[in-house]
Amino acid sequence: MSIKIPFLSKQVKETELEDWDNIPSHVAIIMDGNGRWAQRRGLPRIAGHREGVSTVNRIVKTAVNANVKVLTLYTFSTENWKRPKSEVDFILKLPKEFLHVYLPGLVENNVRVQTIGDFNAVPKHTQDAIEYAMEKTKDNDGLVLNFALNYGSRYEIIHAVKQIVQDTKASELDLEQLDESYFEKYLFTNGLSDPDLLIRTGGEYRLSNFMLWQLAYTEFWFTEKLWPEFDEDTFLQALMEYQQRKRRYGGI
Ligand code: IPE
Ligand code: IPE
Ligand code: MG
Repeated sequence: MSIKIPFLSKQVKETELEDWDNIPSHVAIIMDGNGRWAQRRGLPRIAGHREGVSTVNRIVKTAVNANVKVLTLYTFSTENWKRPKSEVDFILKLPKEFLHVYLPGLVENNVRVQTIGDFNAVPKHTQDAIEYAMEKTKDNDGLVLNFALNYGSRYEIIHAVKQIVQDTKASELDLEQLDESYFEKYLFTNGLSDPDLLIRTGGEYRLSNFMLWQLAYTEFWFTEKLWPEFDEDTFLQALMEYQQRKRRYGGI
């Protein structure tokens, strides 16, 4: 037996997912392997980045259908500036291209667009496109689609500490108040729950400076699949394996 999921192009077998209620609320993805996908086909690396945009759309749809609440996508890291300028420029044009094509679908599907990272350093055209999408979707209360753009976890933590010092000096914060949940208000992820599931594609087993604080108790799932070839079935497989995990948070 299968159930029809309206947003998906194909049917997903009901038996594939044990439990449609036990879905990770926040899924974070390190979308890796675009360059290798292209190189294996004899194409320039940027062809892989372009192909990766289609995967983003595919996975957003699946997340909406599976009733995931927050989907955080690692789009560009603070270390990715080390790449050749032409590649950096190309990657930073993709949010605009993505939103140009897919924003109407996001609006229609009640998705709210949001970002984390140092927004000021990205090109103005990228900022404008994202701000427009955020404004257009600000009242939506479905999936939060959170782009980690020019994001680095160590930068985020230093940024938080600097603000804490300033607020303390301005007597807006009493250090006695500062505990874990208060500290989180200073992170870019303020207001979002921690990821329940982290997926990394592309066969690398590292965090690459992604959400170091927020991933403290997250379940990790890795796949050799490169981001352009990551599909609904693979995503559902990750959700299914998540459902088998026993989260103990230090307890028994
Ligand atoms: C991920 O793919 C996209 C970004 C980091 C922006 P890569 O470009 O890192 O692809 P590989 O890892 O070199 O194959
Ligand atoms: C992590 O991928 C960053 C993003 C996916 C945006 P990288 O390809 O930059 O990571 P490393 O360099 O292999 O660790
Ligand atoms: Mg990579």
